[in-house]
Amino acid sequence: MGVSYQAILWNKSKKRYDLWMSLFIILVLAVFVLAQMTLHPSITIETLIIRATAFTAITLLHIILIIGPLCRLDSRFLPLLYNRRHLGVTMFLFALVHGLFCIIQFHTLGDTNPIASVFLSNQNYQEISEFPFQILGFLALVILLLMAATSHDFWLKNLTPRIWKGLHMAVYIAYALVVGHVALGTLQYESKPLYWVMLLGGFVVIAGLQIFTGLREVKRLRSTSEKTKDKFVKVCNFDDIEDSRAKIVTIGSENIAVFRYDGQISAVSNLCRHQLGPLGEGKIVDGCITCPWHGYQYFPHNGQSPPPFNEKLKTYEVNIRGNDVWVDPKPKPPGTFIQPAKLEGSAS
Ligand code: HEM
Ligand code: FES
Repeated sequence: MGVSYQAILWNKSKKRYDLWMSLFIILVLAVFVLAQMTLHPSITIETLIIRATAFTAITLLHIILIIGPLCRLDSRFLPLLYNRRHLGVTMFLFALVHGLFCIIQFHTLGDTNPIASVFLSNQNYQEISEFPFQILGFLALVILLLMAATSHDFWLKNLTPRIWKGLHMAVYIAYALVVGHVALGTLQYESKPLYWVMLLGGFVVIAGLQIFTGLREVKRLRSTSEKTKDKFVKVCNFDDIEDSRAKIVTIGSENIAVFRYDGQISAVSNLCRHQLGPLGEGKIVDGCITCPWHGYQYFPHNGQSPPPFNEKLKTYEVNIRGNDVWVDPKPKPPGTFIQPAKLEGSAS
């Protein structure tokens, strides 16, 4: 959680993540190369490299885009999310090798600058079947480069989580460009329907999961917080919240995680200071709210990270009336102590 640049530390879980990722990539590459060599016995090594790196990159891109919604559907997918940035940088490296090989193979033989040649060698924008699809791939690669280059926590801190997140949402633009790149390129001369099925199938899965989980979120937002009394809003029943867990509520523009622990209630902002992860989907570990994404921790009563860290969350006043939990949706400045609300008769 430091502000200055610190080299990436490979802990045990990152090593395990990278090991599984490498094994998966080797499997994808092996299956793809075998299939290509069987279907096209005379394929050259250059074409094989171009296609195998492209296929691996687009496969990883699909996985990256479905991890988020999968984790919202089932927390057992969360381990995939912890080091999603490793997947992102690896995907970029495969796309880079693919792009470089294409430029070397198709754009270095003339007297035009190879990068300029990507943009100038074909300007037939009217014909779908002859569209200069390479330009779409090039633009996608530039976006992926920006994302890979700013993936370290150093940039997250210095750009602020909100700007960093906004920048990394450009992955959807990159994905749209890649879909266009393949649809207007390879798929214009590849006659096997399987390629279309894979590309459109991937799109349907990504869009379907995003829309489904998005609609669930909207429904959740609508169903919270109906009753208001003085400044407090009733959010749920005490028993609705599992011990050491939270209920996420949205009141106006405030996204709040209401935690229950040791017979008491505290409420903090639901947005983790690291990458805006959903704190309310995490749990209390060793007395601290622990973010489900990468494990940042905060005290529930004041929203502060335990020393030596200095992240702070907004906190909210809470109280319990009967068995009902009420929250004042007006946030207190980050790090403000709020007396936890205790259930009457609770020992703690
Ligand atoms: C400088 C950037 C890029 C250039 C010049 C480029 C160029 C090309 C070319 C010429 C092909 C046709 C190759 C063939 O059919 O043998 C191709 C196919 C492809 N490209 Fe790119 N590309 C670039 C970036 C990207 C990026 C960033 C991605 C995805 C992450 C990507 C994914 C693909 C895929 C999936 C195919 C189809 C592979 C196949 O034929 O099996 N490309 N690209
Ligand atoms: S978003 Fe990374 S720890 Fe919370």
